[in-house]
Amino acid sequence: MSKPKILITRRLPPPALDILSGFCDIELWDSDEPPTKEYIIEHVKDKDGLLCLLTDKIDKEVIDAAPNLKVISTYSVGFDHIDVEYATKKGIYIGHTPGVLTDAVADMAFALLLAIARRIVESDNMIREGGWKIAWAPTFMLGDAVYGRTLGIIGLGKIGTAIARRAKGFNMRILYYDKYRKEKEEKELGAEFTSLEELLKESDFVVLSVTLTPETHHLMNEERLKLMKKTAYLINISRGKVVDEKALLKALTEGWIKGAALDVFEEEPIGKDHPFTKLKNIVLTPHAASATIETRSKMAEIAAKNLLNVLKGEPPIFLVNPDVKNIRPLSQVKMI
Ligand code: DGY
Repeated sequence: MSKPKILITRRLPPPALDILSGFCDIELWDSDEPPTKEYIIEHVKDKDGLLCLLTDKIDKEVIDAAPNLKVISTYSVGFDHIDVEYATKKGIYIGHTPGVLTDAVADMAFALLLAIARRIVESDNMIREGGWKIAWAPTFMLGDAVYGRTLGIIGLGKIGTAIARRAKGFNMRILYYDKYRKEKEEKELGAEFTSLEELLKESDFVVLSVTLTPETHHLMNEERLKLMKKTAYLINISRGKVVDEKALLKALTEGWIKGAALDVFEEEPIGKDHPFTKLKNIVLTPHAASATIETRSKMAEIAAKNLLNVLKGEPPIFLVNPDVKNIRPLSQVKMI
């Protein structure tokens, strides 16, 4: 039997290649820059597996270009860049990497929350620019308290729950809104289930940790931003498109809310001329919530194993589309 052919669309940390190289013929786009869609279409044509990133749009056109494709493994927990419904119809298994990045992302959510509330980035910039003139003054660089305040978590999945655990250590009142009620988490964390409106009205900090779907697209629009307290902060570690950025810009400049801390944006990357970079009441990070050495190599391991498992006729560790098994059982995709 010849080895399965796979396309990897980016340079990945170890151990991805070590896991795959003995079993597969690998074509690697060996760069940190993304390949073009044309490149992916051209090079996926004869492939059995595709290991891609969240910035590669895997739509009908890409899927149709790859008649042999059996598995798409994304090096991400999010899979909004993949046409899951179409891939499922075509009998293509989709793997992703939840779990391993939960704590890194939750840490980052808290880092952003503290950074915006306590003006950390602003203070650092001020010192570097020579602005620290008086050693200590009672009203200098005042920020907002975090300990004991109210945190509203929109989306109490794995990451939302990990954020709530951190909030518990800060003695915060935890409100959450989710499609489903989470009784176990309510008991463990003392989290209170509320309506979205109530959460927005009562929280001092609102954290977005939902997946991007048609329902969550622009979830934070003008109307909802206006429900938040004028003293509240918005933190987004989910997907940029969950927030209507034009509305957020108005909210921050017109004072509907006090500040925001964002790791994700509607279009990435953003440049130095983006209107957000002109504001003081915002902290910006470059979609880096999962960026720890440990997490990124765990993601590499899971993404490689997801892909390999399917080609071995075994279930991937994390399967996005379980319905695919009814379209094409794993026994029919086994190549190794
Ligand atoms: C993901 O995996 O979806 C994250 O956004 C990457 O940090």
